[in-house]
Amino acid sequence: MSLHAPVTLRAGRVTLRPWRDDDLEPFAAMNADPQVMRHFLAPLTREQSDAFAARARLHVEQFGHGLWVLEVPGLPFAGFVGLSAVPFELPVPGIAPDPREIGWRLVRAAWGQGFASEAARLVLDHAWQVMRLPQVVSFTALDNQPSRRVMERIGLAQRAQFDHPRIAAGHPLRAHVLYAAEAP
Ligand SMILES: CC(C)(COP(=O)(O)OP(=O)(O)OC[C@H]1O[C@@H](n2cnc3c(N)ncnc32)[C@H](O)[C@@H]1OP(=O)(O)O)[C@@H](O)C(=O)NCCC(=O)NCCS
Repeated sequence: MSLHAPVTLRAGRVTLRPWRDDDLEPFAAMNADPQVMRHFLAPLTREQSDAFAARARLHVEQFGHGLWVLEVPGLPFAGFVGLSAVPFELPVPGIAPDPREIGWRLVRAAWGQGFASEAARLVLDHAWQVMRLPQVVSFTALDNQPSRRVMERIGLAQRAQFDHPRIAAGHPLRAHVLYAAEAP
């Protein structure tokens, strides 16, 4: 049963909307793209991608926020942008309990046009004004410059570097960087 009417956010060129069945195919293609997934341990199989979408869909339907599907002109599925819980303790001082992470993953056709930052600003506004969150965090592999630039453009500040607790010692993706912003 839905606890909250699904919420769609719109501004400028971007729409953040609940998931539909026809998102599964382009979502799986994005998650199988080695370029999109180069800062993750591995691309996702179709099964993993479908399971991820099912969790994200249910969360948006139940709570009215989460990882929304991004629509931009000419691309009915351009990826996702939104908020999620952090499934491990961040080994960094000054982080509120049960932090929400803002995150994004876009299909390659949508890169380099400002869509991720535009959508992320919309999500941040929602986090402050509707969800009344005290803080939003974001983290990524140290080398993920495009994602770090989005964090900086939307006003998050770098707080710390840390080793991702779920990535093995010595793995090149283990070094992570944490950004955060407090509610205005
Ligand atoms: C991270 C990711 C979403 C960033 O996408 P992006 O397209 O670089 O970011 P934006 O949508 O904010 O676009 C910004 C770029 O568009 C350019 N741009 C072009 N037209 C623009 C416009 N009208 N408005 C704003 N920016 C515009 C900007 O100059 C900027 O380029 P730059 O970063 O080279 O300076 C994308 O690289 C991605 O999906 N990566 C794979 C998944 C991933 O790593 N996710 C993060 C994991 S933590």
